[in-house]
Amino acid sequence: MDANDKKRNAAKAALEFIEPGTILGVGTGSTVNFLIEMLPGIRDRIDRLVSSSIASTVLLEANGFEVATLNETGDLDLYIDGADESNKRLELIKGGGGALTREKVLAYAARRFVCIVDDSKLVGMLGKFPVPIEVLPMAQEMVSRRMLKMRGQPIWREGFVTDNGNHILDVHDLQISNPLEMEARINRIPGVVTVGIFAHRPADILLIAGDDGVREMRN
Ligand code: 5RP
Repeated sequence: MDANDKKRNAAKAALEFIEPGTILGVGTGSTVNFLIEMLPGIRDRIDRLVSSSIASTVLLEANGFEVATLNETGDLDLYIDGADESNKRLELIKGGGGALTREKVLAYAARRFVCIVDDSKLVGMLGKFPVPIEVLPMAQEMVSRRMLKMRGQPIWREGFVTDNGNHILDVHDLQISNPLEMEARINRIPGVVTVGIFAHRPADILLIAGDDGVREMRN
């Protein structure tokens, strides 16, 4: 079974969490794209939808959905999104697709966060995947120097501008033995919009698709 089959299976398993009348937050990425393509089949269970990126909004609209804003809906019943890494505490690294800030807002606004991944994403310690940081363009060199002081290797995602008009710094080799502390420490640097460590608001449920099916981990 290849990674796409697993992602599709994880997305399918997430449909069960969408109950009638759900106000749903939709994440971003290739795993979520599979989910979006399945959503028309359960359209009657969805009250309203909020999207975490322009890319997901475009795909949702192509599938016939009207996309609301978080300001219009208030808090979400459920947020479904992928991740680049998860540990056993369901703390995540996200932002491979550059949508981390809006994703973090929706995860925070949601009563329940279901994360859908293939089994390559489950790790013992976060940080093999470079940590994305959304940064104000005028602060990028300063934030980069701070990351070097924290023994990370920052690399700018060249030519990439986020939906919020900012830049992404991908930080390699960070030692993330304490994700909660690392998230707070990086978020405190002026000019940082969001770091892609999701430890203060981890997933509630992780659906991990492997060769033998989809298993569930809960927080
Ligand atoms: C986008 C994300 C994605 O959830 C993450 O990159 C996983 O993507 P994929 O489902 O394509 O593997 O955080 O900002």
